[in-house]
Amino acid sequence: MKNNIKIFAIIFLFLAIIITEEVESKDAKKTNNKNKNKSAVETLNYDLETDDDKDDDNYEETTPAAAIKPKATSKAPKKKKTTKAVNTSKNQKVDKSKTNRGPKGEPGPKGEKGEPGDAASDSFPMQAALSAVLTEHFGPAKDTIVPFDLVLLDLGDNYDNTTGVFICTIPGVYVVSLYLMSHPGAKVNARIYINSRPIAALWADDNKSVGFYPSSSIQTVTRLEFGDQVYVMLVDGGYGESWVHANYNAFTLYLLYEDSFMK
Ligand SMILES: *[C@@H]1O[C@H](CO)[C@@H](O)[C@H](O)[C@H]1NC(C)=O
Ligand SMILES: *[C@@H]1O[C@H](CO)[C@@H](O)[C@H](O)[C@H]1NC(C)=O
Ligand SMILES: *[C@@H]1O[C@H](CO)[C@@H](O)[C@H](O)[C@H]1NC(C)=O
Ligand SMILES: *[C@@H]1O[C@H](CO)[C@@H](O)[C@H](O)[C@H]1NC(C)=O
Repeated sequence: MKNNIKIFAIIFLFLAIIITEEVESKDAKKTNNKNKNKSAVETLNYDLETDDDKDDDNYEETTPAAAIKPKATSKAPKKKKTTKAVNTSKNQKVDKSKTNRGPKGEPGPKGEKGEPGDAASDSFPMQAALSAVLTEHFGPAKDTIVPFDLVLLDLGDNYDNTTGVFICTIPGVYVVSLYLMSHPGAKVNARIYINSRPIAALWADDNKSVGFYPSSSIQTVTRLEFGDQVYVMLVDGGYGESWVHANYNAFTLYLLYEDSFMK
């Protein structure tokens, strides 16, 4: 009988120890989680602060390489960072390139060999493509050609960035597009011309002066003859002068179909 009591006592003690340890380890896990969550919040705050610094982008910037983000007076809600903290250390920066990334895959199979190129077009490429940007604020102006000064691409060397005029050297059908942004409280009224003939019109305004940046774009397709001059001009049209905002604009033009001489 005494022995039985002893055995019961030992088993009871044993169970008590196990239960206590389990409760303790649960508590430890909770604290650990709390710390993790806390650090996740801290990382978020840290990243947002850095973002704020970046938001103070310079209004007077002169290169389009800078963030293409208009500085609006009414700020749009910020995107929250979703990266989770992987380390509980304070202010630890998370390497985003290393998170949420699976193992590297096998390289794909080798592609088939292409057809040999056309010898004639290789030796005499008929190419025309223009991409130009205006990198300075322009205005107030009317009856003035917009001198897109930064030439990102000018295949065929058809564009003059001092005059803003493209001169056709390859007759054919061309795609022409234009994007312009203006300033708060201002407007932009522009047309694309071939020689002195307008082929497309663009308008954007902030007439109610609510403080947003008006912008608009247009794309058209047209036939160009040898020597035709294509340019963008700000026009009055009874509405006064226009403003073009630096960098947030594009004048693009490319040859779609070259005219055939075999007709
Ligand atoms: C930690 O965050 C997760 C979700 O992210 C939540 O499910 C959990 O309850 C949080 N833990 C604590 C201790 O706040
Ligand atoms: C967390 O960061 C600290 C300091 O950067 C480092 O010593 C520690 O090994 C890291 N822990 C983990 C789990 O990555
Ligand atoms: C035209 O482009 C050249 C570089 O190709 C540049 O040096 C020059 O400043 C540009 N002209 C104008 C008027 O911006
Ligand atoms: C807005 O439009 C009205 C009517 O066309 C005009 O009278 C006014 O001057 C315009 N305001 C601005 C800031 O352009």
